[in-house]
Amino acid sequence: MKYNVIVLAAGQGKRMNAGKNKQFIELLKEPLIIHTLKKFIQDSWCHNIYLVINPNEQKQMEDLITAYQWQNQISFVYGGRERQESGYKGLLAISEENQDMVVMIHDGARPFVEEAELHELAHAAKEKKAALLAVPVTDTIKRKNGNKIETLDRSTLWAAQTPQAFEYQLIKKAHQQAIAAEFLGTDDVSLVEALGVPVDIVHGTYQNVKLTTPEDIMRAEMILERQEEKQ
Ligand code: CTP
Ligand code: MG
Repeated sequence: MKYNVIVLAAGQGKRMNAGKNKQFIELLKEPLIIHTLKKFIQDSWCHNIYLVINPNEQKQMEDLITAYQWQNQISFVYGGRERQESGYKGLLAISEENQDMVVMIHDGARPFVEEAELHELAHAAKEKKAALLAVPVTDTIKRKNGNKIETLDRSTLWAAQTPQAFEYQLIKKAHQQAIAAEFLGTDDVSLVEALGVPVDIVHGTYQNVKLTTPEDIMRAEMILERQEEKQ
């Protein structure tokens, strides 16, 4: 099977507080975005990577990709102000002959996804039209409404991850509807949910975390060391 992936790297990484886009932070001597892209470069199912970037960082990204000689597998796309807009711009960049393949949308800041997960997700999206990696929440989750606090039933709660994978026309339509409704979701699957279309959950792993705050860096290096030992 073949799929295309949109890798989102056009954010600012404000919560990471690194004074630069967190995609360029080095983990075990390589930039975060390189670790993430490597997962797709190494997967023979991945047809093309659409890397969504901030235009101001184009030269820096291009130099990096050229240094790894990945330029034939990666197309650059300019992102937008919000994550959702960056995803939509990625979708619009996918050429017509590639639109019959499943498309994945993935956070550049999530470098630990593994090939088995990518393949399971690709199959699920092919069969069900929309799917995401997610894990059961491990915390007890409370909802606070004014003074009233209630405990949600944990057995029904999942923490959403990326990649999220779709039939191309479905996710494009979901984005267009969201624009029309001025709806801003925090992930892509939520836009499909808004269409009333069912989405399949593929049980992921707890190590597929997103690097968001400085506390995530040390843990990330530990996970990377473990993954590299396994190879
Ligand atoms: N992203 C993007 N375009 C945006 C905003 C975010 O491509 N306008 C990307 C980020 O680069 C990141 C992913 O979406 O890989 C997930 O977003 P997040 O973790 O929120 O990253 P940032 O927006 O960069 O971080 P922050 O919210 O702390 O500023
Ligand atoms: Mg953000």
